[in-house]
Amino acid sequence: MLPGDGVGPEVTREAVRVLRAVSEGGFELQFEELPIGGNAYKQYGTPLPEITLDKCLVSDAVLLGAVGGPEFDSLPPALKPESGLLAIRKALGGFANLRPAIAYDVLAQCSPLRPEVLKGADVLFVRELLGGMYFGQPRGFANEGALRTGFNTMVYSVSEIERVAHVAFQVAQQRRKKVTSVDKANVLECSQLWREVVTELAKQYPDVTLEHQLVDSCAMRLVTAPGSFDVVLTENLFGDILSDEAAALTGSLGMLPSATVGGKINLYEPIHGSAPDIAGKGIANPLGAIATAAMLLRHSMKREQEARAIEQAIAQVLEAGYRTADLKRGSSERLVGTEEMGRLVLEAIGAGKLRPTHA
Ligand code: IPM
Ligand code: MG
Repeated sequence: MLPGDGVGPEVTREAVRVLRAVSEGGFELQFEELPIGGNAYKQYGTPLPEITLDKCLVSDAVLLGAVGGPEFDSLPPALKPESGLLAIRKALGGFANLRPAIAYDVLAQCSPLRPEVLKGADVLFVRELLGGMYFGQPRGFANEGALRTGFNTMVYSVSEIERVAHVAFQVAQQRRKKVTSVDKANVLECSQLWREVVTELAKQYPDVTLEHQLVDSCAMRLVTAPGSFDVVLTENLFGDILSDEAAALTGSLGMLPSATVGGKINLYEPIHGSAPDIAGKGIANPLGAIATAAMLLRHSMKREQEARAIEQAIAQVLEAGYRTADLKRGSSERLVGTEEMGRLVLEAIGAGKLRPTHA
């Protein structure tokens, strides 16, 4: 567990409570908490201390809260919390970041989109996580004065595109069998290669329909016809931007979980950030972190039954009208804090009489 900064520790605590509860009597989970991000910098002078990295590399899965905060913004790039996050992503090796965005009917009011537009939206982003502009070389600053430049490189190799595309096609086979590959092939060479490679690889998955879409028009379609997507496959930066946009479908960034797979060790993190403005107040929405715990059970522990039980419990608590501040719209809804929301999910799991399957 890497609770991190801001609301990270608060929401991670609730996710861990839920993990403990569903494992009770069925299977054993061992947790260890380690620093990352700004708090790690304060303690160790680096956003990713060796102890954290070493312990993560011998664990079965890593659950991360969030990193970052205004007090760290003026640090040199290598010491910023975000660089710790990118370094742990790279070290764990997961290249396919799965980000589901589901529009729950009961939260339709929380979205700025009209209910009839939202209806049935259930998108799974497969965001490439270890390449593109985030890691591409060369990068940096050059020259002085008015000629000073800042530059980054968007670069992908055939094998980097292929490995993440395989994940997208395989998850699509378990869903509605459609992949939308997003690029900017009308301008970027990197995207032209992406499109070429994905088109070729799609032949191995004749049961899955592939379409290509330019990232700008994809951004528009996400808010005009979100229900028309199944799996969206895209490179790192486009996936970062589009997955935040997709939070508008769910009503709050606090709702979205993610799982990063394909590497040595899977990494699980809610997509929301550290939300420093509400940190420590006990009001953050823990549902994204709890849904992330469900993904951990599904992908790293093959505990589909428990994962579903958590997801159903989240839906039930929302249907019963409980809302954290980010989700509250009407007066009939009951406002709850982080901890109470966690407790309600636990209760709903208990009421569903989850009996863990004994291996
Ligand atoms: C995300 C975040 C990170 C990213 C930041 C915190 C580095 O925005 O997980 O989407 O850009 O990947
Ligand atoms: Mg982001």
